[in-house]
Amino acid sequence: MAGNLSPIDTAKFVAAKRAVDFVEDKMRVGLGTGSTAAWMVRTLGERVREEGLSIMGVPTSSRTAELASQVGITVVSLDEARWLDLTIDGTDEFDGDLNLIKGGGGAHLQEKIVATASDTMVVIADPSKQVEHLGAFPLPVEVIPFGWQTTKALLEEAIDATDVLGTSGTLRMNGDAPFVTDEGNHIIDLHLQRIGDARKLSLVLNQIPGIVENGLFIDICDRVVIGHPDGRVEVIDINEGTQEETRIDFADDDNIFLDL
Ligand code: A5P
Repeated sequence: MAGNLSPIDTAKFVAAKRAVDFVEDKMRVGLGTGSTAAWMVRTLGERVREEGLSIMGVPTSSRTAELASQVGITVVSLDEARWLDLTIDGTDEFDGDLNLIKGGGGAHLQEKIVATASDTMVVIADPSKQVEHLGAFPLPVEVIPFGWQTTKALLEEAIDATDVLGTSGTLRMNGDAPFVTDEGNHIIDLHLQRIGDARKLSLVLNQIPGIVENGLFIDICDRVVIGHPDGRVEVIDINEGTQEETRIDFADDDNIFLDL
């Protein structure tokens, strides 16, 4: 299977391939950001080209907008689409309630707006993203550049009173300069180790002036599609309370690999 793909890329690809089955003609679809979401955008582009699927895609970052256009998906803004049928995105962590940490790629602000404006959010993941408790992955918090050091001090003080194991934050860098998001903001990554009450933490964080949005997605994800390196795919639906397993078979010369 997919001789030129690593096990992790095979897992991401099969998750993406299964998830785009949920896309139907005429849908308005939110397009996530990250390496797993990039597989989904390519796979969806293949359906558009081969099946003549007519959809509108709303990207969650400039990177995704560029890729979606390249693969033939019609890209529109969220304001043009207004409301979406479905969003498919990756994640950095998901727990048993399908709550998420996102923003490892720095796009969680647009991702959260787009997912919240969707009837259904489907998350695609490899097995490494599944956790018992959120928090081992540093929680991204988008802050405006003005006074970011004061904002960082305030948020470290505020989270000390929440149920977390660590309280330190680091400014995300891009080489020697602070990382800048699509909205022109910075990101502080919080090293919490374990989050006891994600809902409370999210509320506490978003009360602090200067914080634009945090990477906790609570009660937003409806379904997670977990791909495995051997081609197995699990689909967990939190609303239906169901879990199904299928297998994706694909040829090594699948068109999807041509642009790799
Ligand atoms: C982008 O900001 C993130 O939310 C990504 O969706 C998340 O980090 C998952 O990325 P990978 O699929 O690259 O692991």
